[in-house]
Amino acid sequence: MDYSNLDLMEPATHAGEPWQMYDWIRDNEPLYWDSHNAVWCVSRYDDVVKVAKDPDTFTSSEGNVPGLPPDPSFINIDGPVHVARRKLVRNRFAPKAIAKLEDHIRASVIELLDEAGEDGHTEFLEDVAARLPMRVIADMCGIPREMHDQCRAWLDVFCGGGNGPKFVTDEVNENFFGFAAYHFQLVEERKAEPKDDLLSMWVNATVDGQPLEEEALLFEHTMMIVGGSETTRNAISGGLYQLLMNPEAMAHLRTHPEDIPNAAEEMLRWVSPFIRMSRTATKDVEWYGKTIKEGEEIMMLYPAANRDPSKYAHPNTFDIHRSFKNSVLSFGYGKHFCWGARLARVEMRILFEELLKRWDNIALDGEPVWAESSFIRGIVQLPLIFTRHD
Ligand code: HEM
Repeated sequence: MDYSNLDLMEPATHAGEPWQMYDWIRDNEPLYWDSHNAVWCVSRYDDVVKVAKDPDTFTSSEGNVPGLPPDPSFINIDGPVHVARRKLVRNRFAPKAIAKLEDHIRASVIELLDEAGEDGHTEFLEDVAARLPMRVIADMCGIPREMHDQCRAWLDVFCGGGNGPKFVTDEVNENFFGFAAYHFQLVEERKAEPKDDLLSMWVNATVDGQPLEEEALLFEHTMMIVGGSETTRNAISGGLYQLLMNPEAMAHLRTHPEDIPNAAEEMLRWVSPFIRMSRTATKDVEWYGKTIKEGEEIMMLYPAANRDPSKYAHPNTFDIHRSFKNSVLSFGYGKHFCWGARLARVEMRILFEELLKRWDNIALDGEPVWAESSFIRGIVQLPLIFTRHD
């Protein structure tokens, strides 16, 4: 197959099992020019790292979705303001704070697993995988439980806009405005009565002596809710699917739960829940005999980099015992490294610890459905049957 003329923003391009295509890009066109979207793409591990760790040359400040202007959340800011905005949430994501959340996360996991599939059938994504991360991050933000499903419904639609400009439809906008209107209502409530949550913190925060502007606060909240919920769920559902495809791995983890963190790392590598983030060149860059011109965008293709054979032996084999000399790139790299990585890993560990203790004879109860997206990789429907341990 010749993959030299791909539209990398087209969801169908990344559908199903795109590994052969990613291998081709990495081997043949390490600096790929997507003429459909006028965007560059890097896919080798070292090249993704090179782009991510050089914000002076490859800035985040022009946005992280090719062709779309940046929103004012800190994922789209470089320099001192980025540092200051990250600092605002640092305490909430510090190792101690996440450790304190463990009991709360475990209680939620147990509740969701116990509620799921009373008759032994479950739509795992709907019942558990999507519900858990939304509950954890929405609780942290301060969104009341009765609104979590509604928030998830808004997000599931408006995240479609992450596929690029032509995917920002009226439906996407309406769902974003639904979430935004609710956000502003919550902000008013927190102004009147602050609580111990992220929203109250942002409402009262200052950067350089100035409070956050309304728009910045809205997008800080949006980034956190999207980052927290639309990704971890895919690592969980895709991870469980891999255990179903590799029964010996599932059996091993049942008797050796201490290996779950390493298995979770392999799930993160395997799934790579974000397909890409992008940067913009701040000057002309000569690379691989080509010129990236100032102002041109470049995407980092995480799933391809996570299967770079120069970093991972047998990259297309799912191996829960893999030794991770090179950290997975699923959470990005450098100054914008994911703030929620620790939290996502804890959620995954606890979920698999409790699931393997409680559910037996887990099997597919229909074909899984993969997300159609050029932004987020994952399974959106995973019908299962199982029995409960006594
Ligand atoms: C498996 C789950 C997750 C994956 C794969 C993931 C992936 C990523 C990636 C690739 C980036 C880097 C963006 C860039 O370089 O432009 C990022 C940044 C970020 N993520 Fe995550 N994420 C996950 C979970 C979470 C969670 C649970 C939260 C919050 C609760 C979160 C919040 C953030 C935030 C706030 C940033 C921006 C950091 C910055 O720009 O300084 N993520 N994430």
